Amino acid sequence: MTVADLAEPFGGRRTLITGGLGFIGSNLARALVAAGADVTLVDSLVPAYGGNLHNIAGIEHQVHVNVSDVRDEHSLRHLVRDQDVIFNLAGQTSHLDSMRDPYTDLEINCRAQLSILEACRAGNPQVKIVFASTRQIYGRPVRLPVDESHPVAPVDVNGVNKTAGEWYHLLYGEVYGLRVSVLRLTNTYGPRMRVKDARQTFLGIWLKQLLTGEEIQIYGDGEQRRDFTFVDDAIAAFLLAADDEAAAGAVYNLGHPQHVSLRELAELLVELNGGGSFRTIPFPADRKAIDIGDFYADYSKLERELGWSPRVPLREGLERSLAFYRDEGEHYW
Ligand SMILES: NC(=O)c1ccc[n+]([C@@H]2O[C@H](COP(=O)([O-])OP(=O)(O)OC[C@H]3O[C@@H](n4cnc5c(N)ncnc54)[C@H](O)[C@@H]3O)[C@@H](O)[C@H]2O)c1
Repeated sequence: MTVADLAEPFGGRRTLITGGLGFIGSNLARALVAAGADVTLVDSLVPAYGGNLHNIAGIEHQVHVNVSDVRDEHSLRHLVRDQDVIFNLAGQTSHLDSMRDPYTDLEINCRAQLSILEACRAGNPQVKIVFASTRQIYGRPVRLPVDESHPVAPVDVNGVNKTAGEWYHLLYGEVYGLRVSVLRLTNTYGPRMRVKDARQTFLGIWLKQLLTGEEIQIYGDGEQRRDFTFVDDAIAAFLLAADDEAAAGAVYNLGHPQHVSLRELAELLVELNGGGSFRTIPFPADRKAIDIGDFYADYSKLERELGWSPRVPLREGLERSLAFYRDEGEHYW
């Protein structure tokens, strides 16, 4: 099924997207608006994060935008009221920033998550919540591919706080009966991702470097393997999890069957761009300390239980991403 098919059941339903001006949230908003959902976006628009008003260009009059911070418990109480579904994507995404400023990461990825859940428990216990978790919580894989039963052993502050955020959701599901589902995303990419730096993923800055004629820099030997999810596939998972009662209380990995080394990824990007260059450089010490090595996920649970599978091959996803930034890069550099 296409994203449009999956969004159809949300027509006329009230949906709230935290982090809705960000990369994944704004793409999700587009799908929901097209289906006729009532869509509210809450986003703090802190410049260091992925929120960007251009992300909703063309749909700005079809969504309610609330520029506020999920750390603000008072506005949360008002925002969650009367919503049918909350897609909870607000987050501080930079691993390095979480090490430099651990308290901000704690406030957003941990404490504010508890506030969102408290607001729902008090004011809207019927709401369905889908939480954007991350493969980062597994830390350095002890086996590959990583399935949901793999030990959780995060290697950075961001991973610890995202783990807590995720577990608060599951706990509130267990104890208070909130209908909560968790998606552990791998590297997600596509139009509207932050590309001005590596805060979201290294792939973002690579796209910018390539398109602005700079050399791509790969840390280490470039042999680390990863799987990448195109944003439309990630959105499909959010929609499926939100609409399927069987997903309540469940945790799902996302992933992709193509595992590539970073060197192979850089080679493919240069080929698709019809030019460009890359080189490997030694890992900066602060990045090396929190690197997880090879990672790719086993996403068979999501496939089996909700019928999700990644539809967009890596080559096509990268082509679509390059085309987007060629046209609209000026809003993202
Ligand atoms: N993109 C990925 O590869 C990836 C991988 C794993 C997990 N995730 C998770 O998915 C979610 C969405 O990520 P994204 O890639 O779209 O990143 P993003 O930075 O584009 O989106 C996050 C949004 O949250 C907003 N935000 C941050 N703090 C906030 C606060 N206190 N109050 C309100 N809004 C706030 C930001 O302004 C931003 O718009 C995040 O929770 C992230 O941890 C993303």
